[in-house]
Amino acid sequence: MPDARPNPQLAQVRLADYAPPDWLVPEVTLEFWLDATRTIVTARLTVTRNGVHDRPLRLDGHGLETVAIRIDGQASPDWPNGDTLSLAIAGDRAVVETEVVIHPSRNTRLMGLYASEGKLVTQCEAEGFRSITWFPDRPDILSRYTVRLEADAALYPVLLSNGDRGTIETLPGGRHAMRWTDPWPKPCYLFALVAGDLAAREDEFTTMSGRRVRLAIWTAPADVPRSAHAMAALKASMAWDERVYGREYDLDEFNIVAVADFNAGAMENKGLNIFNSKYVLADTETATDMDFDAVAGVVAHEYFHNWTGNRVTCRDWFQLSLKEGLTVYRDQQFSADQGSAAVRRIDDVRSLRAVQFPEDAGPLAHPIRPDHYVEIANFYTATIYNKGAEVIRMLATLLGEAGFRRGADLYFQRHDGQAVTCEDWLAAMADANAVDLSAFQLWYSQAGTPRVAVETRQTGGRVEVTLRQSLAPTPGQPDKRAMLMPFRLALIGRETGRRVSDELVAQLKGPVTHLTFDGLSEPVLPSLNRGFSAPVVVEAPLARDDLAFLAAHDDDPFARWEAFQQLALSVLATDDAPDALVTAVSNTLDDPSLDAAFKGEAVLLPTESFIGDAAAQVEVEAIHRRREAARQAIARGLEARWWQLWEAHRDVGAALTPEAKGARRLANVALSYLVTAGSDAAFDAARRQYDGAATMTDRMGALTALVNSRSDHREAVLADFHRRFAGNHDVIDKWFSVQALANRADVLDHVEALTRHPDFTIANPNRLRSLIGAFAANQRWFHAADGAGYRLLADQLIAVDRINPQSAARLAVPLGRWRRFDGTRARLMQAELERILAAPGMSKDVLEMASRALA
Ligand code: TRP
Ligand code: ZN
Repeated sequence: MPDARPNPQLAQVRLADYAPPDWLVPEVTLEFWLDATRTIVTARLTVTRNGVHDRPLRLDGHGLETVAIRIDGQASPDWPNGDTLSLAIAGDRAVVETEVVIHPSRNTRLMGLYASEGKLVTQCEAEGFRSITWFPDRPDILSRYTVRLEADAALYPVLLSNGDRGTIETLPGGRHAMRWTDPWPKPCYLFALVAGDLAAREDEFTTMSGRRVRLAIWTAPADVPRSAHAMAALKASMAWDERVYGREYDLDEFNIVAVADFNAGAMENKGLNIFNSKYVLADTETATDMDFDAVAGVVAHEYFHNWTGNRVTCRDWFQLSLKEGLTVYRDQQFSADQGSAAVRRIDDVRSLRAVQFPEDAGPLAHPIRPDHYVEIANFYTATIYNKGAEVIRMLATLLGEAGFRRGADLYFQRHDGQAVTCEDWLAAMADANAVDLSAFQLWYSQAGTPRVAVETRQTGGRVEVTLRQSLAPTPGQPDKRAMLMPFRLALIGRETGRRVSDELVAQLKGPVTHLTFDGLSEPVLPSLNRGFSAPVVVEAPLARDDLAFLAAHDDDPFARWEAFQQLALSVLATDDAPDALVTAVSNTLDDPSLDAAFKGEAVLLPTESFIGDAAAQVEVEAIHRRREAARQAIARGLEARWWQLWEAHRDVGAALTPEAKGARRLANVALSYLVTAGSDAAFDAARRQYDGAATMTDRMGALTALVNSRSDHREAVLADFHRRFAGNHDVIDKWFSVQALANRADVLDHVEALTRHPDFTIANPNRLRSLIGAFAANQRWFHAADGAGYRLLADQLIAVDRINPQSAARLAVPLGRWRRFDGTRARLMQAELERILAAPGMSKDVLEMASRALA
């Protein structure tokens, strides 16, 4: 066995080592002679010495074939050494010109300049620009860019880059060229170009100061009808950022391009956002309601980066959450404003708990501002993004809406055009509100999910609440300190079921906080962490009856949903009969004060992985057995109700109003319970819904229910779905996922067979995730006791690492949870991690993840 402990060959980058750049690059001119197999890039950098020193200019490059290097017109005596080019420069200012050759069509990493379905596109964040040209590839170098793109006019009729367009030049030999100038200084990670045969959906937006902005969403010509929702979301985002943050767009045009091969969701390049097509293309036939919401959320996210990320950027990559946490918070606020805010909040918490809490509880735990990394691409995590957003939300709760806005205004005013740190952000918040946030700053440096234990004691009309916060050690952080957090709570009358106190935003500072409520005239129950005001685990010794009471009466929708989740966790941790859950679901369905969207969420049991996370050890089989038994009890015990609900809420058409979406949600939850109950009538109903579906939401709802069942319709609908949507990447991804996530003992065999399906490819990150990523989320069958699931994952990881290290490294995450499982499974998972580390030629992305995962 090789030594699996942190690998000394993997050089760490440390926050403590940050030093300002020796040289600045105020001006950049780039010329691209574009060709899929052989692109020539000429870069002219105006460099200026930063401070008094005699150090050389150091440039980064990766995989570049260097043709020429000139300094002020003279051939350079210095030549690259590996990925570094060190140039001795005599004066304080010079023009450095390089010429390199790169090979987009061979670029399977999808970083730098690469080809996707005949288009040439770039991805530079975090460190992709160095694969395009020699440059100091760090975010604290801000430059003005002028770009000339030259390409074959027939293959690449559309040539896009950042900023303002110039005029088109027609050239001999069927080529043409286009010039772009970006007036806003930017870090190189925000550079972008796109060349290809694209068609635009065009629109316009007039900003609050009256400037007209041309908007365009570029897709394959056949997909233009499917970008309407993204365009509506873009305009809504632009108006929202003006209204809520006073932030206006700052160029004459804004372009979005959709590409099928993309490592992430989307990228906020200045004036030229590049998107994973999954987050642009949506129509009722091919996208579910959830997909529509995801499109709007990602469009908003990338647009909002124009201020939080682009106008004010990060000093170094340790500050990633400065832009990502803040921008996720802003997109969450935007989405909540589009309707069903309560359900949105529940969804945000659900995904935080599904991905971030496990990260915080295992070997991959890191603070929202890490202090070291090997490969920065491994830190685009749920912690940086989603916990980062929770930290921003806590600030907003502590400071209030107006105070938070004052802080944001000061941040933009102070730092527009700068590359800054998380301290700068907190200082603006603190200064604008004249408060001390030093106890809050610990959220940036301490990893792990705090626990808040709550005790309530009532004596007559007085209620005393004691809150104790604690934070367990995480890798490299044995001792933790108490953090400032806002904890919203109220009291609910145990007799009337009404809120009998004001809502309090308690500020937990030290380890223990005491609160007193007076003047109560009935016994009470605490409604805790309302709205999920702090990203913590609450430990409150509430009896099941009390949780059921809160699940029926709490006036905070999040707390009400949470009470049922906690009740379910309590029941499912034992072999007790699930009657209390059936009753609670029935009460929720009966409550006329609740809308369909909320009911659709509130009657779902916690996922198997969430149940596992709440226990000392994940008991894979027992959790599955108990949860299935509870699902059966809810399905059969309320079967008549599910029929009524399905009948009452189906056939609402295809409208995207909150009401119609809520109805579809509840109808599909009802259908899934009906199919769980297992009658032929239910199977036939699902088949009818599948065949006659007016929306992908309904078709997918029926397909999912049938795929999880023993119905004879299963194979027929799967085959029909594949035939019906052949060639549509996003929909075929769903076809893979629904099978990988199936609740059936033969999933592993199916997934194995699907890896050999002609539509499967590990080269496309969406497709890889739709099959292998989805399978790893299927707790019962991925964690098969013989380790076959782990083996399959590791085989795929090793294969994809040769193509795309970022994709491969992500697949290591599920194996990092080994400590949470029994000894047999833990050993099998460790063995796969060891096998990955021992495989020849693995990328540093994977080596870092696998060695951290084993630690
Ligand atoms: N900054 C992007 C965002 O808005 C993230 C991103 C896009 C990314 N492409 C990437 C991260 C490639 C890593 C690699 O969230
Ligand atoms: Zn982002």
